Amino acid sequence: MMTLSRREVLCGGLATGAVLASGGLSAAGCGNQVVPAPFVDVTTLPGDPAALDLDPASMSFGQLAVRLAALPDLEPIGGAVTLRLPKLTPGTLPFALPPSILFVHRGAPGDPQEYIATDATCPHAGCPLGYAPEDRLIECPCHGSRFRATTDPGGCVGQVVHLPAPSALRAYGVDASGDPLLINLSVDVCAAAGAPTVVGGQITLALADVPELAMVGGSKVFPSVNGFPDPIVLVRQDAMTVDALDAKCTHLGCTVAFNPTRMDLECPCHGSTYDLTGQVTHPPAPLPLRKLPVSFDGTTIIVTVG
Ligand code: FES
Ligand code: FES
Repeated sequence: MMTLSRREVLCGGLATGAVLASGGLSAAGCGNQVVPAPFVDVTTLPGDPAALDLDPASMSFGQLAVRLAALPDLEPIGGAVTLRLPKLTPGTLPFALPPSILFVHRGAPGDPQEYIATDATCPHAGCPLGYAPEDRLIECPCHGSRFRATTDPGGCVGQVVHLPAPSALRAYGVDASGDPLLINLSVDVCAAAGAPTVVGGQITLALADVPELAMVGGSKVFPSVNGFPDPIVLVRQDAMTVDALDAKCTHLGCTVAFNPTRMDLECPCHGSTYDLTGQVTHPPAPLPLRKLPVSFDGTTIIVTVG
């Protein structure tokens, strides 16, 4: 008689592969067998194997230097550790320091993604994450969220590939060309790639750079915006109108998307819907989305977020 593991029963034995094959999200309610990566406090390692550069004049200001010799759990491919970072006085660094990062020996030596570093806690309910080498995914043992661990075509490290996680993990750049390795904690490398930037309280986009908006009924979600805390969604409502809204669902924070058939905004997590003015048309969302002023002259889109 065939026996099924808890994961196979909960996930139908197919969830991970099916999600990856489709490239889409799944909300099946399965847990993962992954365990959180072992915790290592970077301030207690012997022999200065890890150090956070706090010298503003240094070229590696804000970067974490890590000597692999002190982290035996990282030695095998597929190994992972959770590096607990020091608590700093606010303002010490010009960016928010995460409390810990997940550091994974993901690939073979010489692979440009031999090592990856991401946030270490799940954005759903804060469980510590682990790495599942058999799935090549970062996984949450609590409620089944999974996150990309490779920069596949069309995807970045840290992106959600399995709900209920409402948002991606920040992914930090790793320079593995020397010893120690350097982890740049100041930039979310995935969000930085292609993310618009707020300048003077506004985001300026050339229509030619956002082909999704070329046609009426098109839409574009920016999961990250440099200088704005939430994702935004843009919708080409008619020839001379582009709508922009804060895309963070007011229920539990998932990112909403435009449904061109219903001409509304829908949340993939618990079914809330909003009209294009941001008003809730279906609960459980308790509050409207914030509508952002837009000026559009047919070629340039200017969204005011300030
Ligand atoms: S805390 Fe990670 S899926 Fe719920
Ligand atoms: S997060 Fe629950 S409906 Fe959007």
